[in-house]
Amino acid sequence: MKRTEIKQLLAEEKIGAEVNVKGWVKAFRSNRFIQINDGSTIKNIQAVVDFEKIDESVLSKVSTAAAVSVTGNVVASQGSGQSIEIEVSAIEVLGEANPDEVSKTVMQPKKHSMEFLREQAHLRFRTNTFGAVFRIRHAVAYAIHKYFNDNGYYYIHTPIVTGSDAEGAGEMFRVSTLDPKNPPLKDDGSVNWEEDFFGKETNLTVSGQLEAELAALALSKVYTFGPTFRAENSNTARHLAEFWMIEPEVAFADIVDNMDLAEDFLTYVVKYIMENNADDLEFLNEREVKEDSTKPQAERNEMPLIERLKFVVENNFERITYTEAINILLNSKPYKKNKFKFPVEWGSDLQSEHERFLVEKHFNKPVIITDYPASFKAFYMRLNEKKDGVPGDTVAAMDILFPGIGEIIGGSQREERYDVLKQKIAEFNIPEEELWWYLETRKFGTVPHAGFGLGFERMVMFVTGMTNIRDVIPFPRTPKKAEF
Ligand code: 4AD
Ligand code: MG
Repeated sequence: MKRTEIKQLLAEEKIGAEVNVKGWVKAFRSNRFIQINDGSTIKNIQAVVDFEKIDESVLSKVSTAAAVSVTGNVVASQGSGQSIEIEVSAIEVLGEANPDEVSKTVMQPKKHSMEFLREQAHLRFRTNTFGAVFRIRHAVAYAIHKYFNDNGYYYIHTPIVTGSDAEGAGEMFRVSTLDPKNPPLKDDGSVNWEEDFFGKETNLTVSGQLEAELAALALSKVYTFGPTFRAENSNTARHLAEFWMIEPEVAFADIVDNMDLAEDFLTYVVKYIMENNADDLEFLNEREVKEDSTKPQAERNEMPLIERLKFVVENNFERITYTEAINILLNSKPYKKNKFKFPVEWGSDLQSEHERFLVEKHFNKPVIITDYPASFKAFYMRLNEKKDGVPGDTVAAMDILFPGIGEIIGGSQREERYDVLKQKIAEFNIPEEELWWYLETRKFGTVPHAGFGLGFERMVMFVTGMTNIRDVIPFPRTPKKAEF
């Protein structure tokens, strides 16, 4: 008999039909009620066993985490909590699970610490929380592709191995096939990378942007969605060494078009999840409310998860310049009371304490900050005209900050003027031979263009309410951790 997935079974409620369900046992109560989950939905199906009909030797193997195949008729449920259940006529244990061993794992149905769940990343998919998170992660990825496809963007695959270190977005991981104990050396004793696999130094990419720009200057609207790697030693709840980034790049667009796109895109994705992942969201919402109730008032979320998502969909993002942000900070209570650890002054980068104040206290909604000082932003960002009341050079950069997440998007209008770009490359001490191809696009039909990078995992954090980035990617890579 063909297997019916639990999601479909619950949606159809075909009372009287004979069905087969395969899944894993979540719980087995009173030698009679088996809760089965197959991952298609967060909901379980209850299979009710009449032990006079089913052999004891089979039932004795039914236990939490075992895989079972159950056949029987769909009936209206007697108990509360579910509308239908299966009256079991046959049951087969496909894979047993030793209860003593299960009790040492995260599959044991009780509350586990997030750290313990991370140590068992190979098993945590079986828990309700991670089932919900990874179903939503999938849906976020799908919604992203759907948004761009429906709006006429082309998905470009940019290289993962890169021969240029020019972007400067982060520390890189080297890619090499040389023998680390015995590398070929040049006369001066340095490693001769010409003998390496690619005949030059290569690394894992930190961003697909520069290559995406090349494509945008022909296909007009493109995006990348791929893995990126940064070797910073930042052990925070918001950083991974391997994460996924979405980078749209648009020709004939300026910084305002870029902000409009980012806001429309983020809102679309949040709405998509609210409309298509209601069961998982409700579970995560409940979970968060329960967690919050154990925390001191100050650490609780001001709004529950689903309300936060609704709020983002229904309200416009705040748009301010860096210079305005500095003025708000200089007039803020924490600044006046000396509560900020880092200085607030025009020309220094905003630290996360400043960003949090702006997003979570002052505006209490997503904020787009533009026109940052040129001094601490990337070479490719377009140089702005000088403005009154702005002390120094700025670039057409934008960062989008989300409550509880911090920076979720970083982007800019790009420097399309050949001479200005060439000058910037020199000022940043980037060897021109590394970027000749990038510069060359500014010689043949250069146009204003803009784009941004969305941190995929930070987006998944926002829509699931998970507070540690390690809990929204199946197998996190962080300093000193690359298990599984
Ligand atoms: O701000 P970033 O460094 O921007 C770029 O890489 C540009 N090339 C993007 C572009 O304009 N096409 O990174 C973009 C986003 C950040 O806003 C953040 O959400 C995420 O990537 N991000 C990380 N996410 C997880 N772990 C890390 N270590 C991250 N570093 C950046
Ligand atoms: Mg950034």
